[in-house]
Amino acid sequence: MAFKIGLLGLGTVGTGTAEILLDPQGRHPLLKEIEIHRVGVRSLDKPRAVTLPSELITTDLEAIVTDPAIDVVVEVMGGLEPARSLILKAIAHGKHIVTANKAVIARFGDEIFTAANEAGVYVMLEAAVGGGIPVIQPLKQSLGVNKISAVTGIVNGTTNYILTRMQTEGGEFADILADAQKLGYAEADPTADVDGLDAADKIAILASLAFGGRINLQEVHCEGIRQVSAAEIAYAEKLGFVIKLLAIAKRLGNEAAGQQQTPDTPQDSAHSSPSPISVRVHPTLVPLTHPLASISGVYNAILVEGEPIGQVMFFGPGAGSGPTASAVVSDILNIIGVLKTSSDSQKMHPLLSCSHQHYCTVAPIAELVSRFYARFLTKDRPGVIGSLGTCFGKHNVSLESVVQTGFQGGLAEIVVVTHDVREGNFKQALDEIRALEAVDSIPSILRVL
Ligand code: NAP
Ligand code: HSE
Repeated sequence: MAFKIGLLGLGTVGTGTAEILLDPQGRHPLLKEIEIHRVGVRSLDKPRAVTLPSELITTDLEAIVTDPAIDVVVEVMGGLEPARSLILKAIAHGKHIVTANKAVIARFGDEIFTAANEAGVYVMLEAAVGGGIPVIQPLKQSLGVNKISAVTGIVNGTTNYILTRMQTEGGEFADILADAQKLGYAEADPTADVDGLDAADKIAILASLAFGGRINLQEVHCEGIRQVSAAEIAYAEKLGFVIKLLAIAKRLGNEAAGQQQTPDTPQDSAHSSPSPISVRVHPTLVPLTHPLASISGVYNAILVEGEPIGQVMFFGPGAGSGPTASAVVSDILNIIGVLKTSSDSQKMHPLLSCSHQHYCTVAPIAELVSRFYARFLTKDRPGVIGSLGTCFGKHNVSLESVVQTGFQGGLAEIVVVTHDVREGNFKQALDEIRALEAVDSIPSILRVL
């Protein structure tokens, strides 16, 4: 008897999913045991790129999530509601869930996974981060024995496409965004992508898996790319950097030592809380030699660092019908594989289910320790660089380089790169510098990887 799928959505990802399920030849043999039972859409009249018997398609999505014949509900409709309510209703009716919806998981993951654990069903979300790139299951399984210290990703294709074109063509953000929209690479409403919100959802999910705790999305620091100018990209390049929108989740403290205890900081792992993590999205200067610097266009990549693995990078198509459907169907396959072999339906497979219930402690951005880049426009007269240096020194900000790069409208242009400094200290120094009579403005402040 075949396992039955209820598909919520037959758009970009739903169509790719149906295409794989309808063409099992040459793929994993288990696919032949899976059948599309119902498909939920908004409009019955829309022409569809995939041919399905018309009686399978319905606008009654409630009927799908409550249908006793269905084993797995695949939510590829997007949005927050009714997606969240339909997922919860499907769980209440004993359905396993596969979803590509990072927005719902990042906001309602707590509610959804708690309900799923109580109901003894799986919620799988490989497609929610990095499209076709396998990164969720690797974090849960293949890398599960590692102490993860950092996950750093380019997880939004739209912004990577815009930044890549700004870099190669020297164009400004607004012009390239408009062109990307014309070409269909950017949404008509690009807010979630260009303001970093999509990447924030994704890094919240990755952080949760990497650090074994839930993440409060409100605590994820998020900056988008609207402020990145062609000038900044050119300066960065001169200094040996490329600007990328990075999503970063990092264990603060003994990262390099994989949280090893030292004689000075004795910890009883059974009684102490793990050190806080930093979870953030922002445009970042990435050294040209770094593995993420060469990820161009709409591609995504995620660098995972841990002990004992060292570094491992996942690279591939972060979106698109076929690649995203590849991740969706692999999740379906994982669930079916477990259902076929498990004799005790009460027991959850520990490598597929979500076992953590507490929230991770996310450190405020002011406590972040990072390198910074700042560009200043100042009066061109002796002593200005010295007074900048004095302000930085007063706030314990150590400088790696200070370069006067040229002139702009009669003002001297000075670019500073710091060593690793506490963000709070750096911001205090900048406040003082802004008040200096010789300083006209600080057009750009960026973090450096
Ligand atoms: P899409 O092309 O807009 O398709 C959405 C589908 O859901 C459509 O078939 C639509 O029906 C149906 N739908 C939406 N709201 C509905 C409602 N209230 N009632 C009934 N049907 C409804 O979206 P998509 O690009 O496939 O994205 C789906 C999900 O995958 C999203 O969560 C997205 O973030 C995620 N994702 C997408 C990609 C990608 O490359 N597109 C990559 C990774 C993750 P109609 O067809 O009748 O309008
Ligand atoms: N809008 C996303 C991006 C694709 O640009 O990467 C789906 O996650």
